[in-house]
Amino acid sequence: MTRPIDRYAVIGNPIAHSKSPRIHHAFAEQTGERLEYTRLLGEPGRFAEQVGDFMAAGGKGLNVTVPFKEEAWRLVDERSPRAESARAVNTIIRLADGRLRGDNTDGAGLVRDLCDNLGARLQDSRILLVGAGGAARGVLRPLLETHPRQIVIANRTASKAVDLAADLAKLGPVTGCGFGELSGRRFDLIINATAAGLADAVPDIPDNLLDTNGWCYDMMYGDEPTAFMRWGEGQGAARTLDGLGMLVEQAAESFYLWRGVRPDTAPVIRALRRA
Ligand code: ATR
Repeated sequence: MTRPIDRYAVIGNPIAHSKSPRIHHAFAEQTGERLEYTRLLGEPGRFAEQVGDFMAAGGKGLNVTVPFKEEAWRLVDERSPRAESARAVNTIIRLADGRLRGDNTDGAGLVRDLCDNLGARLQDSRILLVGAGGAARGVLRPLLETHPRQIVIANRTASKAVDLAADLAKLGPVTGCGFGELSGRRFDLIINATAAGLADAVPDIPDNLLDTNGWCYDMMYGDEPTAFMRWGEGQGAARTLDGLGMLVEQAAESFYLWRGVRPDTAPVIRALRRA
């Protein structure tokens, strides 16, 4: 008798355009892992039930995306330290005893893209993280674990940046402020974790924040350079980067958690860029 195929899915709303099935099937093909990975349209108010149904039907794990990551954090039975700091779960693993473990691979994905794919050296660097919502919180712990000299979180609503920094200050040198307080400061890397790009807008941060050789990294991606990447070019950034590599790397980290095998991400990133 052949074993039933291991089932995974990504749940979110909207979900139709998620690239995750394509990415995970590419990983599975490359590593010889036998699995199926589908999209699940999450329904507000029914998330917990949908996760329960998926796991009861033999599901082995889920990726969770907008707007359910915080709800997933509340739902799981146990959490990794990085999920705990993120207060959000993007990866659910069904353990052998049926309990659900929550992890968050977003920050690890960002750091791997920056350091392994792009060759950034974050140790001792000055990082400006723009935004203080779920996307920013999700990546802070892994960023701090690279031992930057300082991370400044700047947000349109300054109090949210101050609160987020205070919450994670025990993990490393991080402070929070509003956009106005940034004037005159210099950074090696500016990361956009705001939702401004959804409206093709750029956060209203001051000019001249980038040091010579400074980089701009947008956690969003699109077919064309994002508004923030265009802003970075205007600021003379040595490199302007989008979040496609982060997307593939966070998927690879989830794949590793589920299957214990690390896929090679480079060909998958290349294929997505070509498409
Ligand atoms: P996410 O989970 O994607 O981070 P969120 O929690 O709603 O979503 O947070 C959105 C972030 O984008 C916030 O930091 C928000 O700033 P405020 O806290 O001041 O609302 C930021 N944001 C959204 N649109 C923005 C814009 N046009 N300019 C600057 N910041 C923006």
